[in-house]
Amino acid sequence: MNNKKTALITGANKGIGLETARQLGKKDITVLVGARDMAKGKSAVEELRKEGIDAHPLEIDVSDPASIKKAAAKVESDFGRLDILINNAGVMNDDKKKKVSEQALEIWRSTFATNLFGVIETTNAFLPLLRKSEAGRIVNLSSILGSTEFHATPGSPVYESKDTPAYNVSKAAVNAYTVQLAYELKDSKVKVNAAHPGWVKTDMGGEGAMMEIEDGAKTSVELATLGADGLNGTFVHMGKPLPW
Ligand SMILES: NC(=O)c1ccc[n+]([C@@H]2O[C@H](COP(=O)([O-])OP(=O)(O)OC[C@H]3O[C@@H](n4cnc5c(N)ncnc54)[C@H](OP(=O)(O)O)[C@@H]3O)[C@@H](O)[C@H]2O)c1
Repeated sequence: MNNKKTALITGANKGIGLETARQLGKKDITVLVGARDMAKGKSAVEELRKEGIDAHPLEIDVSDPASIKKAAAKVESDFGRLDILINNAGVMNDDKKKKVSEQALEIWRSTFATNLFGVIETTNAFLPLLRKSEAGRIVNLSSILGSTEFHATPGSPVYESKDTPAYNVSKAAVNAYTVQLAYELKDSKVKVNAAHPGWVKTDMGGEGAMMEIEDGAKTSVELATLGADGLNGTFVHMGKPLPW
């Protein structure tokens, strides 16, 4: 069996996902660059290969069950197992001019389709391959905006950030899902944790964001490479726990 680790990062054609693929690749891990648009996936892979990284494009739209199934079958036939799954793909679709009660139900549905159901379906499809790894690791990209405790606490860093409610609640659900799955995995070699990357300068984070992309990928990389005694079922940013 090939001893080199293999990682799949969804939504890795740009932003934090691409940088996470780069940093894992530099640790001599084979990276599967998940992209819903293969042309974008291939061009990201070209960029990484120029830096000496063993990168391969993988078509995966996490809101499309058939696409997830096809991607899992391809990884099984090409690699036989998966060591790291980073559920990084995400959307922020809210209309920021609207109040919580005014967001269209369609926004809530489309946000949950990618940010929550996409994470669950992708995880279910790849879990059998992760269980074949000596040290399976799952990282769910959450956000400090998913912290219900912070949202309920006046004066917290996100108390006033109620302009993306569908996004915020979808990430709270990702946190809750992480805890549920961690319980199932607690006696296995697979660990699952939720990551807040920071407020990062990407298309989603915007130019006003505080963190450079290099730093924004660090929490995902750390959780993807945890040792056998590492965390399971936590919500962290740069090694520090965040309130649920
Ligand atoms: N940036 C921040 O400040 C910040 C803060 C907290 C949490 N996060 C989380 O970190 C993750 C990455 O964010 P980012 O800032 O790097 O965002 P980004 O630059 O907007 O990139 C998002 C990635 O997700 C992909 N994607 C969206 N829907 C998808 C789907 N249905 N199937 C597959 N891929 C899909 C996008 O693909 P396309 O290029 O095809 O659209 C893109 O590759 C997200 O989960 C986000 O919620 C970000």
